[in-house]
Amino acid sequence: MTFSPQFLDELRARAGLADVIARRVKLTRRGREHVGLCPFHKEKTPSFTVNEEKGFYHCFGCGEHGSVIDFVMKTEGLAFPEAVERLAAAAGMEVPVDSPEERERARRRQSLYEVVEAACVFFEKSLRMPEGGQAMAYLAGRGVDDAAQRRFRLGYAPERRGALKAALAGHGITEEQMAAAGLVKHPEDGRPAFDYFRRRIVFPITDRRGRVIAFGGRILGDGEPKYLNSPETPLFTKGRVVYGLAQAAAAAREKGRIVVAEGYMDVIALSGAGIDEAVAPLGTALTEDQMGELWRLAREPVLCFDGDAAGGRAAAAAASRVLPLLKPGYSLRFALMPEGEDPDSLIRKEGAAAVERVLDAALPLSEALWRLEARETGARTPEDRAALQKRLEDHALRIGDPMVRGHFLRDFKDRLWERPRATGATGAAGATGTQRAWAPVAARRAAPAGAPVADLAALRERILLAVVITHPELCDDVGERLGTMEFSATEVDKLRQEVLKTVAEQPGLDWTGLERHLKHSGFSETLDSLLSAKALEHAFFARPDAASERAREGWEETYALYMQKDLRAEIEEAGRRLAEDPSAESYGALCALQEQEQRTREEEDAFDRRVGALVPARED
Ligand code: UTP
Ligand code: MN
Repeated sequence: MTFSPQFLDELRARAGLADVIARRVKLTRRGREHVGLCPFHKEKTPSFTVNEEKGFYHCFGCGEHGSVIDFVMKTEGLAFPEAVERLAAAAGMEVPVDSPEERERARRRQSLYEVVEAACVFFEKSLRMPEGGQAMAYLAGRGVDDAAQRRFRLGYAPERRGALKAALAGHGITEEQMAAAGLVKHPEDGRPAFDYFRRRIVFPITDRRGRVIAFGGRILGDGEPKYLNSPETPLFTKGRVVYGLAQAAAAAREKGRIVVAEGYMDVIALSGAGIDEAVAPLGTALTEDQMGELWRLAREPVLCFDGDAAGGRAAAAAASRVLPLLKPGYSLRFALMPEGEDPDSLIRKEGAAAVERVLDAALPLSEALWRLEARETGARTPEDRAALQKRLEDHALRIGDPMVRGHFLRDFKDRLWERPRATGATGAAGATGTQRAWAPVAARRAAPAGAPVADLAALRERILLAVVITHPELCDDVGERLGTMEFSATEVDKLRQEVLKTVAEQPGLDWTGLERHLKHSGFSETLDSLLSAKALEHAFFARPDAASERAREGWEETYALYMQKDLRAEIEEAGRRLAEDPSAESYGALCALQEQEQRTREEEDAFDRRVGALVPARED
């Protein structure tokens, strides 16, 4: 079985080297690489590196080296074709059959690249010929200089009906090939084929390696349609290609950022302003394939939208499309251009710094959804807020990844409850009104006699650690967060550090192995108290026999509650501020915090009830 180089290229790109390897090796990011413990030899300090940019892994300890396909062959003990099939299936790609017909198709595709390349060269030359004068002047007028023209290989399609056709025929290219490459059109009335692009500035569209596969053409001056793209061909599928990707890739990797504009001219203008990491879809909303391309270069592509209503609709469509695809660490940001501007026009009017400011202020996806929906629904009355909550939850529920989904739900809830209600009205009420409104609230808050906050926090710390000890496999997901915590009890904190270190050094260690190690390392007592029946009474999911999924949910819920531990202190501080400065703002701030606390209590109660229902008869 032989596979075409194009197919193998595509497979290597789509399989995601680090993703595949991360299923076997715990990887941590270090600069542009990922590192981990080499799966091919025994080692205690990581010398195994994964470089996605270069598309290979390399171990400095044992010298193992290869592509994603090699990795699968070696770790799964598969032959080349089997490894290819396995990766293709995982990436949702069809493996081309190796038939004489398929080989013929591959050969024809290869020659199509040459046809399209020849057309590109023709357009580039035409721009620099006398007949391209007007186009040249137009580009100059829009600030596209010679360097930009060459970087993006801009060209001109002359007005003469058969200009390109004649030039290509001169290279021995048949009319059939020209038609297959989308360069000429056959009129229905049977007259001879004529050039597809005429009297247009031509923007070559390339694949990610920079091979020209199609063109976009902008009419000179006014006229309809303003932009025209090549039809779909064996080389060109519109929804899979991102304009400017080949030119943007190096800068994007370097800066860890990719900027997605709406049009060709925006990409070129951004690049001219020093923002080389700019791309655009081809006149349509971003597709799943295009998102995949972008995520390979940066974890949070920044999408630029016009700040007007139409821009808002486009942003909402993009957000909605991306929700099911989100994975931990991968998302989007939204940069809102001033109303009526695109990056190109903003750069022309106010310079590169203005665009940088807009990009720096890009909103995270959750914030953008919140603003779009809050604007749509309003959030003044309880009815508005209920409707808003419903819409936001509907968005969050479309997120495929459970962890990301949980965090979005929580984020939206926080926002809904944090918002001080009708601050305007309270402001008008003045100090007396404020005092009156405040009194019953205070009484209500003072009443519940829950455990002191500090004790609750300590209890949660113990639970968070216990879950990870009895389910070390969760470390992949929660280890990083556990690593940034600092527990209040010294002994427990030492145990936390030991657990993290051990799991990092011995990936794949199970609970019994970990327990043995910890007991040998002098943590017997701490461990016993942490895992006693009494301690686990409130955290059934931390018991060794709890299912991994339950353990994970329990951990996430406990973590979310744990993160609220500073709320009490904030409320007290807000109360002091209100006493000193009885303004509407101070009052609003305090109310927001109290609402948040109330909700936390309700959630805690619900959580305890649910956990309680799972706890079997007492063991002590
Ligand atoms: P815009 O109409 O916003 O154009 O279309 P623009 O990029 O600002 O163009 P200039 O500045 O007037 O030259 C944005 C993108 O939508 C696609 C093109 O990809 C364009 O770059 N488009 C637009 C079409 O495909 N066809 C059209 O008729 C118009
Ligand atoms: Mn424009």
